[in-house]
Amino acid sequence: MRRSLVIGNWKMNGSLDSTSEILRAIETTIDDKITCDIGVCVPFVYITAAQEITKPTVITIGAQTVSEYQPGAYTGEVSAHMLEDVGCSWVLIGHSERRTLFNEANAQLVKKVLAAQMTGVTPVYCVGETQEEYKSGATFDVIKDQVEALLNNSAVDLTQLVLAYEPVWAIGTGLTASPEEAQKVHAFIRALVSERDINAANMLRILYGGSVKPDNALSLFGQKDIDGGLIGGASLDAKAFVSICQKA
Ligand code: G3P
Repeated sequence: MRRSLVIGNWKMNGSLDSTSEILRAIETTIDDKITCDIGVCVPFVYITAAQEITKPTVITIGAQTVSEYQPGAYTGEVSAHMLEDVGCSWVLIGHSERRTLFNEANAQLVKKVLAAQMTGVTPVYCVGETQEEYKSGATFDVIKDQVEALLNNSAVDLTQLVLAYEPVWAIGTGLTASPEEAQKVHAFIRALVSERDINAANMLRILYGGSVKPDNALSLFGQKDIDGGLIGGASLDAKAFVSICQKA
């Protein structure tokens, strides 16, 4: 019922040359056995180049953050309208690196989701607990808090949304939540969403992120409520990324 989705998050990596190299390599390796939707979120400055390269392909392009403001006097910011203008399909919102390093909190992130939803750009709202929270058994409380910030705002359109669960302790560490552990959190998130809208909850794609690699992707994506992945490091390696897409 839900079509799988795999999104690469390049973070602040790459150059004009490597953007073209990686995307062309992904494009030539993709075959018709791949049935999932594929997105790649590149740094702002490479969006147009990435868009040019991938236009005739099934690969869609996204950004890694967006301003909550409408166009105007906000030096350094990039609006959702601008992302739409350059052909973005996705924008990551609330990645743990944004929450931690740039102090982005739930209230601001909800505004960003709403800004994206005013355009044709689909927000990918990320949630996840830190290692400390995980160890102290606070995972479900943290996730509830982050997801409910979104659900409590009735203007948020649950049909133009993707969620991503990324345990912070699994990001770039080589550690992953076990498929069963991740499934529990995904099912919990879907249950929270279904309290507001059961149909939207059933259609909602919830991605797992945190050290997804070709050798663990199948067991993670095989879980009932895991609808694909948000891939960091491995998305910079075309072969690994395509191999992950093949498992979704
Ligand atoms: O957004 C993707 C991410 O944070 C996971 O990164 O390198 O652990 O796959 P990585």
